[in-house]
Amino acid sequence: MVTRIGHIALHVKDLDAAVEFQEQVIGMVETERLAGASYLTCNERHHELIVIEDRVNRGYEHLALEVPDSATLEGAAKRLTAAGGTMLGGIYDGEPGIDRALKVKSPAGHVYKLFCGMETVDAPPPGDRPMKFEHISCKVANHRAEERFLTDGLGFRFSDRMGFLASWWHCNEDHHGIALTLAPRSELSHYAYQWSDFNALGRVADRLKARSGRKCIWGPSRHGPGNNQFLYLHDEDGAMIECCSEIAQMTADHYQPKNWSMHPSTINQWGGPPLPRFLLTGFPIVKPQPGRPAWAIPADRTATTARA
Ligand SMILES: [Fe+2]
Repeated sequence: MVTRIGHIALHVKDLDAAVEFQEQVIGMVETERLAGASYLTCNERHHELIVIEDRVNRGYEHLALEVPDSATLEGAAKRLTAAGGTMLGGIYDGEPGIDRALKVKSPAGHVYKLFCGMETVDAPPPGDRPMKFEHISCKVANHRAEERFLTDGLGFRFSDRMGFLASWWHCNEDHHGIALTLAPRSELSHYAYQWSDFNALGRVADRLKARSGRKCIWGPSRHGPGNNQFLYLHDEDGAMIECCSEIAQMTADHYQPKNWSMHPSTINQWGGPPLPRFLLTGFPIVKPQPGRPAWAIPADRTATTARA
């Protein structure tokens, strides 16, 4: 059912500061700013990230997943509820950059937005930026119920497992679009951008250090599941970003999904076990609201900032 990882919507304390971080460190470009929400991209899609100013509730609002057409969206509710999801209102429109959408809460409490019809914009100017928004990793207390929701509700397919601690799931050629990690409470572990090569990760670390003197959380190194190179850092509001390159492609004949050992080397092929600041980072789920978000405005919008 889901054919592409869309974007994530984050509630941030200071919109200007969050946008500046995404532009200066990651290389994102703002396409629109409306009603306290900024839409950012790194390619020709209208947005790969939404940041919403919210001085009270820091956290992530939803993870957006693209479906191919309206018919899929209209038939989704029955399948999602049968798989353990709770619908958050019906199908709505009027959210900038997309056609229509609906929201659902998973058994673990994560909030997914299914949408179709992403607008396109002119390609960003040449620059050092990701290729796309790649994946998210969710901490969950009830692993098995969430896995069933991903497969039976959203149509994800199995990629890899690390015992009872973690599993990775794909919806297209990328090895994972969603990862699940066992944890005491449900929250976001990290969101990830896809980069062209390993050197690009180093340039992100350089920009982070030059801008604010801050250091990365973990990496660079290579994960076993997915075989991707990684570098983790905190964004301006404390959410964890993973910068990825060389993620395995599930269409390649050589990749064999398997159950990996629960050993630190599984997730760090080059070095030691993950550091506490990586393991303990979690970004809360903003209390979900049904239907169209309050920050979204009708389709005949007037942009206060528009690049295209
Ligand atoms: Fe990840």
